[in-house]
Amino acid sequence: MRTPLIAGNWKMHKDHRQATDLVRELDSLLADLEGVEVAVCPPFTALGEVSRLLEELSSRIVLGAQDVYPAKEGAFTGEISPGMLKALGVRYVIVGHSERREILGEDDDFIAAKVRAVMDEGMVPILCVGETLEEREDGRALSKVEGQLQKDLAPVRAEEISGLVVAYEPVWAIGTGRTATPDDAQEMNAFIRSWLAERYGEENASEVRILYGGSVKPDNAAELMAMPDIDGALVGGASLKATDFAAIARFRD
Ligand code: PGA
Repeated sequence: MRTPLIAGNWKMHKDHRQATDLVRELDSLLADLEGVEVAVCPPFTALGEVSRLLEELSSRIVLGAQDVYPAKEGAFTGEISPGMLKALGVRYVIVGHSERREILGEDDDFIAAKVRAVMDEGMVPILCVGETLEEREDGRALSKVEGQLQKDLAPVRAEEISGLVVAYEPVWAIGTGRTATPDDAQEMNAFIRSWLAERYGEENASEVRILYGGSVKPDNAAELMAMPDIDGALVGGASLKATDFAAIARFRD
């Protein structure tokens, strides 16, 4: 059984004070939630404070980061290493988000190096993949995602695959209010799982959590999560409001 993961990607929102306020609120709304793993991914500047607060509250919420640089240390001005994240108690690291691919020009080789670096530090990459609207309309959604998986997971071995989370995030659904239908999201997530099965074996693939992301809200979370290959959500906008994010995490209520 795959435990669903609901992860909040705060993007470039919330300074460290606002971040701790949000986490306090979330923690009290989610204190009795069972059977669902909840993660928050604040900006780097808030990770330290949020980490301390989660420990102080003995919270069930786990800590994630939004990005990482794939080197142990060195002359990489402005960058953050996997070890620095690990030292703060970070468990999940978002890798290959479409905003970084598009706005910052990250390519698949760089993303593959990040996946490797996160795993080498014993953390879990949340690898984001997804097609643009044009690619979907041209019937190229599956081949686009297949190409991303092929390149981004090149350095991952079969026995490591259960320590991976994949998030299918159609670019046209991110921040647009336009969600993929549960059937379309299921189709892609099933495709991702079958690709993983072919490459890494059925059993290994059946352990990988495959999330959906793109305008997930309290009112569409339950129908998305009901699909057999959707094992959680990567939530942007709706993760910034405690009541909305908690409602998504409580999709079974
Ligand atoms: P959204 O963002 O929920 O605001 O669409 C999702 C994401 O980018 O991870």
